[in-house]
Amino acid sequence: MNGFYYITTYGCQMNVHESEKIAGMLEDLGFEPADEEKKANVIVFNTCCIREHAEQRAYGNIGALKKFKKANKNLIIAVCGCMTQQNNAAEKLKQTFPFIDIIVGTHNLYKLEDFIKNKIDDKKNTIEILQSEGNIVEDVPMTRTSGINAWVNIMYGCNNFCTYCIVPYVRGRERSRKKDDILNEVKDLINKGYKEITLLGQNVNSYGKDLNTDYNFAKLLKDIAQLEGKFRVRFMTSHPKDLSLEVIETIAKYDKLCNYIHLPIQSGSDKILKAMNRNYTSDYYISIVNKINELIPDCKLSTDIMVGFPGETEKDFEDTLKLAEKIRFASAFTFIYSKRSGTVAYKMENQIDEAIKKARIDKLIKLQNKISKEISNSYIGKIYEVLCEGTDKKDKGIYVGRTDCGRLVAFKSDADYTGKFLNIKITGANALSLKGEIKEVLN
Ligand code: 5AD
Ligand code: SF4
Repeated sequence: MNGFYYITTYGCQMNVHESEKIAGMLEDLGFEPADEEKKANVIVFNTCCIREHAEQRAYGNIGALKKFKKANKNLIIAVCGCMTQQNNAAEKLKQTFPFIDIIVGTHNLYKLEDFIKNKIDDKKNTIEILQSEGNIVEDVPMTRTSGINAWVNIMYGCNNFCTYCIVPYVRGRERSRKKDDILNEVKDLINKGYKEITLLGQNVNSYGKDLNTDYNFAKLLKDIAQLEGKFRVRFMTSHPKDLSLEVIETIAKYDKLCNYIHLPIQSGSDKILKAMNRNYTSDYYISIVNKINELIPDCKLSTDIMVGFPGETEKDFEDTLKLAEKIRFASAFTFIYSKRSGTVAYKMENQIDEAIKKARIDKLIKLQNKISKEISNSYIGKIYEVLCEGTDKKDKGIYVGRTDCGRLVAFKSDADYTGKFLNIKITGANALSLKGEIKEVLN
């Protein structure tokens, strides 16, 4: 044993999964997880730069480590993730926080293990940010931390260049993992007892396009759904312009594919969608939703919605509210537009006043909460298949799980049914969670 490690993760599921790889590499070196930052010998910040807020938090938290480093010269501090990959970010980090030992970009994260080893063996610091993506590196050690769910990357990067978004600049172009690498990983996870597989990519519907074969996302879903065992498959994220009929038909056909799609809409105004370079109109989005509802009648949708994009008028915002009301998403992640240096929108005129953005998001959240609550209420009295994820963090007598369509359900149980599928009758509802009673244990 070499000591303890502590990882702070910012941002999305992609980063959460990347932190599982960081943990895997550290455990490979003989480190064990610490329950507190101050007990750790290695501290890693896995950063996100998608919005300014996440970046500021990372800066604040890294700065707060100066005292630990003063007290313990052997403490190793590493920073990785999207933030480090931006133009000049590594130099800026090193200048602001000279006590950082290792800065690594998104394309070479798999080398973190070597960099930490170099620091331990030779006291060597490393700053390495690669400009090109390189080949996908398989077999990075991994310590999974998300219970019965396992994240599986199917592709990396993004080619879409939505004008507000920094991701294509810091994650590079789309690269798909090989079909067999994915299928072998999923088979292995199912054999190990994972009950939920969540496929990850910035735009999963583009899976395979760079492999120059006719193997695509729908075929991958089909192959995974036909694997032996009782498990569920989710995926994120889907760009509306690329969600094909073949994918919708595949979800409709196979039980193991959850009746749930995360389909970011971003705005309800065609003018704003165009300025965002989203490549669809609100009518097109509605036509996909209609197709989904027709082929998968109990499918639930979640979405990402942004307010305050440059040039968004009150009318544009009203269009967003109207569309949210028309589509009735089961849930929505709502964001205030954040200006990101290096993106096209950064230079756009008509940036929106912060107070207006705040008023708009409040209004949007209020509407979505109302819709989410109404949808939750519609579950009451019905029986749903729920996959039990474990106990409630605050109350050990209460277990939580999710319906196939992603709603959180809390229920009392004396027995531990973690990892089991149960039929649960819904007896109560909040906006985003339900209460229920066990009717039947399915396996
Ligand atoms: N400002 C605010 N939200 C953003 N997102 C991406 N870039 C920005 C930005 N600059 C949101 C989008 C995307 C989600 C992952 O983050 O809604 O779908
Ligand atoms: Fe960003 Fe758009 Fe790519 Fe999503 S699809 S990661 S929002 S550029």
